[in-house]
Formats: sequence, C-alpha cells, structure tokens
Amino acid sequence: MPALGYTYDDHLPADFSAQSLRNDVLTGLTAPRKWLPPKWFYDKVGSELFEDITALQEYYPTRTERTILADSATGIVRAGQSRTLIELGSGSSEKTRLLLDAMIAQPAEPAEPHADHPVDPRGKVASYVALDVSEDALRSACAGLVSSYPRLRVGALRADFTHHLELLPKGERRMVAFLGSTIGNFEPAERAAFLRALRGELGDHDQFLLGADLVKSPDVLIPAYDDTGGVTAAFNLNVLDVLNHSLRADFDRSTFEHVVVWDAENEWIEMRLRATQDMVVHLSDLALDVHFDRGEEVRTEISAKFRRDRLIPELETAGFVARGWWTDPREWFSLSLWGTA
Ligand code: AVJ
Repeated sequence: MPALGYTYDDHLPADFSAQSLRNDVLTGLTAPRKWLPPKWFYDKVGSELFEDITALQEYYPTRTERTILADSATGIVRAGQSRTLIELGSGSSEKTRLLLDAMIAQPAEPAEPHADHPVDPRGKVASYVALDVSEDALRSACAGLVSSYPRLRVGALRADFTHHLELLPKGERRMVAFLGSTIGNFEPAERAAFLRALRGELGDHDQFLLGADLVKSPDVLIPAYDDTGGVTAAFNLNVLDVLNHSLRADFDRSTFEHVVVWDAENEWIEMRLRATQDMVVHLSDLALDVHFDRGEEVRTEISAKFRRDRLIPELETAGFVARGWWTDPREWFSLSLWGTA
C-alpha cells in the first residue's frame, strides 16, 4: 500500500500542457474564424472560478445533476452491477461520492467469492479510478476519497480522455462515468469519434454512465452562462491570462467582452470573447502577432444541449445499448446508463 493511500499514474509528458497549448493556440488564433479550446480555461484560477460557477444560482447543471444522483445513485448502481468506477475528467470528484456511497452500500453480486470478485484481503469492496489532466485536482480529490472511504481502492490516472482512452485500467464490469455534461464541449464529429473510441475500449459487461444537459428555454440557458455577478465572464476572460502567462502574450483583458449566444439550430451555447477595439496582440513564445478588428469574436466554448430522442440513436450508432435514463422533475439534466451488448 503506497503511503498516499492511492496509486498515482502519470501518462502525460511533463511538457504536455505547454506543447498542446502552443498547437491549439496557433491553430485557433490563425483560423479565419478565431477559436480556442475550452480545456485551457482550467488553470488554478480558472478551476476555482469554475467551482464558483457551479454554486451560482443561475448555473443549474451541477446542482441538478447532483439531485439526480442523490435520488437515483442506488438505482444506477443496481442497474450497472459494477464495483469499479472509472471517471473521465473527474475534477473535484465531488458528485462522484454519491455513486461511491451506493456502490459501497450494495453488496457485490455474486456474494460468493468469484474470479471476477475475489475477496479483497484488505477489505476493499469497490475501486475508483479518477482520470484527469490536472495533477492538483487528482491529488486533492483522491486524498479526500481515501480518508472518507476506507473500503475503497483509489487510483489517479493523469491522462487526456480525448487521446488516452486505451489507458483505462482493465477489469470486469467497469462503469465508466462521464459527468457534468462535459460531453457538451465536443463538436458533433468529435463527439462521435470519442463515443466510438470509448465503445472500442469497453467489453461485454462494462457500462458507460453519461451526464448530459438537456435542451430548455434560452431564458434559462443564457443566464446560466451569463450570470449577473459576472463570474462566468471572469472565467471566460481568464483564458486570456492563461495565454499571457504560458505563452508570454500581451492580451489586455479590458479590451474584450464576454459574449453568450444560444445557437438554436445546433442547440448549443457558445461563449465568445469580443474585441472592443482594433488591436494587435503579440504572443512571444509563438513569435506570432494576431490582429483583431473591433467587434471580432473568438469562440472559446460550445456547450451542447441534448434531447433524449437524439442521444439514443447517437449512442447506438457508436455501438452502445440503452440501459437506463434518469432525470429531474423539470427534465433539465439527464443521467443515462449504456451497456455494450
Ligand atoms: C464543465 C463543460 C460542463 O459547459 O456548462 C460553465 C463549463 N462554461 N460555464 C458547461 C462552463 C461556462 C461547463 N462544462
């Protein structure tokens, strides 16, 4: 048993962030319609701002997903019959605790020792592996879980779920969870590729648990991404500071404004940063000058919203079989369980 109480596996090169940030920024800011990938929001300040967002009155997804889990974790775990939870993009692993509580409370089936469910000499009854790109997030989440759950085997895997699904730990009856509607950040083609790749990694008895935000009135959606306190604006603008610090750029955040658009055709929210004046920004580490016209926008995130009737065929196309659907009374958010056979 390691002194930490959890295993830690790092599959990202030390300069992973530096290299892929450089590539992404070069690609996005030299495109005819400028864009930046949302993963670069989450430096230390950005991760804290995101945690603040999840507590906002206007931002319903986190709270709603938590209520569904609080009501239905027992049923989800019963449907999945899994005692191995692997979470993609685990972040703080906070809502995950509701699933872990249910896994630990329900005796594994079969109750008899079996090759797939050997009796653990240390009395562990379930396993959890957190996968995230952030070492800070992994370490604090796993340390917290180790102290709360003596009967849980805990592992941290530092990896990027868009590239490293083949690194998922092996096991029978795994449940792979992808919560928080992080799936909404993918464009449709990327989403299809991700789902296919994930399906390819799963065996007959594995399960996929997906948290997906649902289509609803723009009167609810827009304020969720444009709160009156300006927390989401600060989160969006923080990506410019990330570029300033990590690529020695000279963005002046006071010359950009936070813009939120509901794209009714694609059924996604777009966050953008709009230049309020003509300017040239210099990115020293890329030896790049980027011109902005007044009013020009940089797309920083899409957050797709889903419908049950479209999600089912999408997952089926990727090779999944529907196993369960849970939602809140207003049907604002969904958790769905998928099998493979
Ligand atoms: C973490 C991607 C699910 O899209 O709602 C929150 C991120 N962006 N407010 C989302 C986010 C602006 C969030 N996800």
